[in-house]
This record gives sequence, structure tokens and C-alpha cells, in this order.
Amino acid sequence: MRALHRAPEPEVLAALLKDATLDSATRAGVLVRAGGLLADLRAAQNDGWVNQFLQEYRLNTSEGVALLSLAEAFLRVPDPETADALIADKLGDADWRAHAGKSNSKLVNSATWGLVVGRALVSESEKSGVLKRLIARAGEPFVRQAVGAAMRMMGEIFVMGRTIEEATKRMAKPENKGFTASFDMLGEAARTFPDADNYFTAYEQAIIAVGKDPGAGHSISVKLSALHPRYEVAQWERSVSALTEMLEALAVSAANKGIALTVDAEESERLEMSLDIIGAVAALPALKGWDGFGMAVQAYSKRARPVIAWANELGRLVNVRLVKGAYWDSEIKRTQEAGLSDYPLFTRKAATDVSYLACAKDMLAAKNIHPAFASHNALTVATILEWAGDSRDFEFQRLHGMGEGLYERLVREQGYHCRIYAPVGGHRDLLAYLVRRLLENGANSSFVHQLADEHLSDAELLADPAEKIAKVGGTRHPSIPLPIDLFGADRRNSTGIDLQDPPLLEEVVKTVSKLPFTPGKAVAPDVGAAVERAQAAFPAWAATPVDERAACLERLADLLEAQRGELMAIAVQEAKKTIPDALGEVREAVDFCRYYAARARDGLMPIELPGPTGERNVLRMEGKGVWATIAPWNFPLAIFLGQTVAALVAGNTVIAKPAPQTPAIAGWAVGLAQEAGIPDDALILLPGGPEVGAAIVADPRVAGIAFTGSTATAKKIARSLLDDDARPLVPLIAETGGINAMIVDSTALPEQVVQDVVTSAFRSAGQRCSALRVLLLQEEIAERTLEMLSGAMDSLIVGDPADPRTDVGPVIDGSAFTRLMDYRQTMRAHWVKTVDAPTEGFFVPPTVIRLNDLSELNQEWFGPLLHVATWKAGELEETVARVNAKGFGLTMGLHSRIARAAETVEALSRVGNLYVNRSMIGAIVGSQPFGGEGLSGTGPKAGGPHYLHRFTAERVTSTDTTSAGGNATLLSLDDMGI
Ligand code: NAI
Repeated sequence: MRALHRAPEPEVLAALLKDATLDSATRAGVLVRAGGLLADLRAAQNDGWVNQFLQEYRLNTSEGVALLSLAEAFLRVPDPETADALIADKLGDADWRAHAGKSNSKLVNSATWGLVVGRALVSESEKSGVLKRLIARAGEPFVRQAVGAAMRMMGEIFVMGRTIEEATKRMAKPENKGFTASFDMLGEAARTFPDADNYFTAYEQAIIAVGKDPGAGHSISVKLSALHPRYEVAQWERSVSALTEMLEALAVSAANKGIALTVDAEESERLEMSLDIIGAVAALPALKGWDGFGMAVQAYSKRARPVIAWANELGRLVNVRLVKGAYWDSEIKRTQEAGLSDYPLFTRKAATDVSYLACAKDMLAAKNIHPAFASHNALTVATILEWAGDSRDFEFQRLHGMGEGLYERLVREQGYHCRIYAPVGGHRDLLAYLVRRLLENGANSSFVHQLADEHLSDAELLADPAEKIAKVGGTRHPSIPLPIDLFGADRRNSTGIDLQDPPLLEEVVKTVSKLPFTPGKAVAPDVGAAVERAQAAFPAWAATPVDERAACLERLADLLEAQRGELMAIAVQEAKKTIPDALGEVREAVDFCRYYAARARDGLMPIELPGPTGERNVLRMEGKGVWATIAPWNFPLAIFLGQTVAALVAGNTVIAKPAPQTPAIAGWAVGLAQEAGIPDDALILLPGGPEVGAAIVADPRVAGIAFTGSTATAKKIARSLLDDDARPLVPLIAETGGINAMIVDSTALPEQVVQDVVTSAFRSAGQRCSALRVLLLQEEIAERTLEMLSGAMDSLIVGDPADPRTDVGPVIDGSAFTRLMDYRQTMRAHWVKTVDAPTEGFFVPPTVIRLNDLSELNQEWFGPLLHVATWKAGELEETVARVNAKGFGLTMGLHSRIARAAETVEALSRVGNLYVNRSMIGAIVGSQPFGGEGLSGTGPKAGGPHYLHRFTAERVTSTDTTSAGGNATLLSLDDMGI
């Protein structure tokens, strides 16, 4: 199973193709069956709301997208002001009238009419205030009502019931006759322990309710991530043991009631944990003889087949539900972000279809598996029917609201079994789920979507996936490059480590547990002598071709990757970085080297400029001389090296001063730079504290300074550069701190906000310049969000950074600790939440501090202390202005579903990096160039296309090419075109 996890796609598919390829007789039989099913499906479309919806609002139209995003957010917005803004935003640009009355579905039509009315009122109101008058006259907010009704209607169709009682009742109605259900308790994965408790209770109650009539054959589906807020590989021990216990309890009670229970499948990183849990529960003596235990397997996974084999070996009967897989897009993205070797799943839809068939074949042949085939694809269903022959000893499954018509005849006339996967829950939770499902099934390549496409013929719909895959040799989708090739020909992406892979994680943990060397004694550096050496080395280095200098950086990147383990160990031991942070540190350093090498090659070459005839104008970008690079401890490798290699590749020699807290990692990096071919005197390391920094800066031979650190130090440096009247004017690139705010309005998804807040404020113990310092919540949602945040903080682990379980390590040293703890103490009366932290060592407990007003915060607190304040609906612009008024301008976050809110913040905020609907940390070189303005820095942005030029002297030579007599170019012109 391990070997397949990230194996090359063609290899994995070669084995699957053998079993998924049909001989021509079988294929002919399949096509006949599939044709019949297609006809049924089409006929049923008039009732199938989802199909109607997909037909009317294609996801690739602006209306489809607007409707989905409106649906996702509308029902959770508590205040009318924001609700109106959301409606205006989503309905404003789309042409709803074009859809009115066109669909065959009454429901789609009434939803559309709601939207048309809403749209009309919105646009009128924009022009003339008609909306206001209407509302005043009727005493009711028409638009909100119309849209609210439309959204609720969508919910009612898709959810089986708001409660399990409602859902079981609905299953008994004639429309569901002959079908059984598997009830699923709606909601996101649990973010807090109380959330998880609630889900557990909901499952228990569902079992009791369904168990009242075991004869009906209904079952329940359990999502493990709903039962534990830290169901993560790094938290394996505590989450797996807790989950095993909970699943045991649920399984035993289901067994006692005589109903079945299936464990849902989730993200690929959770697969092995889930097998541990499922394996333990399957072996329980108390469950012997109970045939109701089951699990889901996702066919898009490269490991799907071995998982089925594993299930077959559990020594008991297992119900296996084969699905295509629900997290495809997020898995692809995560793999790319993490820079992993290959994807855990197939990149083409047809490949998943092939895998599905191969898995289905295995399942039909397995002794201890009761198969459940969950699919809306007529071809897949027809193939299984063909293979199964006369057998009825398996079941099909479909989602409630989808694939209607496909199974009706099979169930009612031919004795097959079909189960409906039926979501149960409040409409608020439903919509997020609905959007995911619609996106999953509405993806261009999905069967349900294709079915709704009038332009596709039956033959195209039923094309053989095995044939398609064989034709392309099972290769990866050409638009989905391997993570390493993400940046194309420009440069190779840095490689990551799969920290979700337990054996790899274990290896890393061993590596980082100690320093890879014994520290020597520091000697006081001779600044003057160093500058002299660097100056002497300058002419030769400046004369080295750009290409060669860039090649040094690329070799350095390779060396950094080769010694990643050692560097991560120093980052953990010396800079107190957690394991993921240490990995991120090395990757960023690697990316800086390759990125600046690429930018130097394409940006530092001489440029011939246009002008009048008879002259030649050439712009050259050359080194200026000796640069000083001064770095902070919080990115002791990435920032230290980033500034340094930029100066070097631009043709300067460099005196590099790391922070006094982190000399070792800098020393290691400089050693590698020399190994990569950078001459010893072109890069001189001068470790030391502020005095050494000040002495370097004060040396008049230093021709430029790149500094990253506090605003106060940047100002000191700027001032000192003016001390010496005789000194040339030298450039200072300063990257400093910020009072970084995140603004959240009531359309935001609270679960996502909380996750991003925890990441932005507390990861790296808040010691990132980009970290969130003040959370600005719209009043209406403040209490609920803080409650959820406080719950999420309860599951944070503060401790040893070398322990993979740790979320928050210590702060860098005693003085930082004292400063932060003293401040925290003075704010005691304003604490909203704090958590436990070890008392030995410099652990600052993550703490949320309430402010009455933003004016109470005027400096950067560089640690895990998060301030929170509120703002009033409708005052987004004023709120941004208040943040701007602080004078800093590094990062800002916004969580809102209103596109216009993002436009407003983008237009008004004065920050270097704005993050919308995501966390505020982790800028990626070349994708998110980083750096601020105002008190936060001078620019240009690190990791951006304009950085290198700042390190150069720009020189232009203009030559009169006619001075030697006559304009040869003009005189030799042909009479072209005649
Ligand atoms: P710091 O300003 O105390 O030290 C930074 C570096 O400057 C150290 O190497 C230090 O030895 C040196 N230094 C101190 N006084 C000096 C002087 N008078 N002349 C020359 N050099 C001097 O900052 P710290 O505490 O090391 O780093 C944390 C600060 O850095 C935070 O404010 C953070 O926001 C900022 N930072 C900004 C980043 C950005 O990209 N905008 C990235 C990382 C950190």
C-alpha cells in the first residue's frame, strides 16, 4: 500500500487497466444496459432538482457561481445590512432574467424568480432608492425574503431532514419506496472538543432513532474528523486512541440495535489512521456476528485497491462503500503546496473511473466484503451489473438529490438494492455541504454534469474510460504538473517532506532532535578588516558573468536541499522552530536562491534602449560594491540567505550579519555558499549583536544595506547613514514589523476564520512579521467567533518544538519572554482566553486580549498575543482607515464572501500583502512577493520581480554611432516594400 501512495500514475494505472478493460462482448452488453439507464436518467431529469439546477446554472457561468456563493453564505448572515450587501454583490452582475421560467423544474423556476425579483429590486435601489421606499411601505425586506426563500428551498430539497426523526419519516414516503438510507450528520469537521462531543451525541441519537425500526434497513455514516478536533498524523496517538474508543462505542450500540454503520473516507493523509481505528474496532469480540460494520474507499486514491484487499482480510464481513472521492481539488492543491514527490490520487477523471472498475471487480470477487457501489455514472453501474450477472448480493448507493432515475427501475423491477446517502441537519450547515457536493458533481468532467450537457451524445457519455486511459498511457493530466515543476521552465520548486507520512515523520523527528555539530566559541569579529577584504574581492566578483553568479545560487539551492535535515535540526534547536516551520524555512531559502538566480538571468542583462537613429543606448545593472545584510532570528536561514544571495547575484560582495540568537544556521549556510562556488571574500559572515551591526553600517565603504528586523533598529540605521557628511548616499532596504489586522464580516465562514486566526496568530509562537496581531470582528458575529476560537485554542499544544505534536513552541529568548509576559500581565483584565503552557522555559501562553478601541494598540507585540476588537456593520471603510492610521503597512487579512468588500479593502488598505479568505502567513517566493510600507518597510518586495534591481547601480552608456563619419545604418537602408 505504501509503495503506491505517490507512485507515478502510469505505473499504478497499468495494473488497474488490466482489470478494467472489457472484452468486446462484455462492452457490448454494458452499452446496451447503459443505454437503458441513460434513458431512465434523462426521463427522471424533470424531477431531479440537482440536474435541473446544473442545466440552468452551469458552474462555468457567472450566475452559477454567484448562486452557489450566495447559497453558501446567505443563511448564516445575522444582520440585515450585511445580508443586503451580500445579495447586491452576488445578484448584481448576473443575468437572472434570462433564466426565469426556462427550467422544467418548478423549484428551479421559483428560485430563479426569487432571484429575479431580488435582482430587480437591488438594481432599482441602486439607482433611486426604490428598495428603501418599498421596504418602508411594505414594512418588510422584500429582497431578503425572496432570496432567503430561494435559498431555503434549495436546502429543503437537498437535505433529507433537519433532524434524524424528520429524515427517517421522509424515507418512509412513497417517493423513497424500495430504497434504504444511510444517514449522515451534516457539518464541517470538528474544530473544538465541545463540537466533537456534539457530533458524538448526534450520532448516538441517530443510532437510537434508526434503531427503532431496524427492519427498514437504514444505516448511518460516521465521519471520524467530526469526532475529534485534532485527527491529524502529528497527533496520531491521542486522536487515534480517542477515536477508536468512540467508534467502538458507536459500533457497539449500532450492533445492539441491529443497524449498520459505515465509516466515511476522508483526506489521503488520514487513511492510515483510519485503518488503525477501523481495524481495531473490526476486531472487537463484542462485534462478532454483527454484519453491519463498514467503511468507504475512494477510487481516486492510488491506494484504493490495497485498501480493499486489506478490508477483505479483516477476518469478518465488512461493508465496503466504493466512492469516487470527495477531496480531489484540495488534495491536488495541498500536494503542490507541500512540494511532494507526486499526487496520492489520479489526476484524470477517466483514471478514477478505471480505478473504480478495477476496485469493483475486486469487491465482487472478495469473500468477506459486502459491496456497496456509490455512483451516479450509468456506464459504471452498467458495467457492474454486467459483471455481477444474476447476483443481487451487493448494493448501489446514490446521494440524496442526485442520480434520480438511475436506480428506480433496478430497485423496483429487478430486485437490486440501492441506498440513499442522506444528509441530515440544519439548513445552515447544509449549504456549505451542498456547495461542495455540487462542485464535486458539477465539475466539468463529472457524469451528472455531462448528462446535463445537451451537446454530448450518448456515445460520448458512454465512452470507455479504459480506452481513454490506455490511449494516453495512463499519464498525468497535462495541466497538473508535478509539484516540482510548478514554476515551469523558470525554476525548480523546492521539495518538501511528507510530514503526514508516519515513517518519514519519525525519521525527521530523529534528525531534528539534536544539533548536528558541537558549537565552538564565538570570536569578536574585526569589522574593518572584513569590509576591506570584501572590497578587495568586489572587482573580480562584479566581473563574473551574471550567468555564473546565478549558477552559484542554483548550486547553493541544491546543497541546501541535500543538507535539509541538518539545517532543519539547527532551526529547531537554535531558533526553536517547530518541525513544519523548520521545513518551511529551508524550502523558502531554496526558493529564494533559485528565484533570484532566474531573475538575475532574465533581469540583469544589459538592455539596449530605443532612440533616434545614429546612437546606441545601453542600460547596464551592475554591482555597487560591498553590501551589508542584517538579519533577524525569526527567519534565520531564509531571510538571512535571501537578502544575501540577492546582493551577491546582483554583483555585490557581502558582509552578512545574522542575529546574535542564530549564528549557527547562518554559519552553516555560508559554508554551503562557499562550497557552491561563491568566493570566500565575496561573502563574509560577521556574527554578533547590535554593536557589530552598528559598526558594519557605520563603515563608509559599505555601499548598501539590506536589513530585516524591528522598525526601531531600521530607523537607527537610517539615521546613522547620515552621520558622516563625506559618506555617499547609500540605499537602505528595510523590512520591518507591523500591527497586522484581520477584518472579518458576518458573511465569513466561522470555522474557516477560526482556523486561519489560529494559524496566523499562534503558529511560530506569533514570531512572524506577518503574524496576525489584531482581529477585527463585525459586532454581530464577535461572540460566536470568539467562543469558537477559544474552543480551538483549547486543543493547541504548547511545548517542545522538536516534538511533532507541538503547535506552539517557546519564544526566542529570556528577554523576549519577559517583555511579552509583562505586557500580557498588564492586560490581564482584558483577557478573553488563554491556554496552559509549560512553566519551565520561555513559553508564552497563547492569549487573546480584548481592546475597547484600536487606539489602545500602538506597537508590535512579537509573540502569541492576539488582540481583538469589533466593528459595526457598514463601517468597513472606516475600519480599514483606522488600521491604516497606525502607520504600519505589512499584512492585512479579510474574511468575507462579499467580493465588493475585498475590492474596498484592496483599494483602501495601505499594506504590502493582503490576504483574502485565507491565513496571513507563509508567503511563497515568486508567488507572493513579500514586504510592507510605511513603518513596515521600504520595499522592494523580497521574492518579487523588482527586488534585485535595488541592489544594483544602473548605468547607461549612450554612444553616437555616427561620430566616426556618416550614419551607416541610415545610409545602407534598402528601399524596402517597393
Ligand atoms: P532587531 O531589529 O532587534 O534585530 C534585527 C537585526 O538587526 C539583528 O541582526 C540585530 O543584531 C541587528 N541590529 C540591532 N541593532 C542594530 C543596529 N543599531 N545597527 C545595526 N544592526 C542592528 O529585530 P529582531 O528582534 O531580531 O527581529 C524581530 C523583528 O523583525 C520584528 O519586529 C519583526 O516584525 C521584524 N521582521 C520583519 C520581517 C519583514 O520581512 N518585514 C521579517 C522578519 C522579521
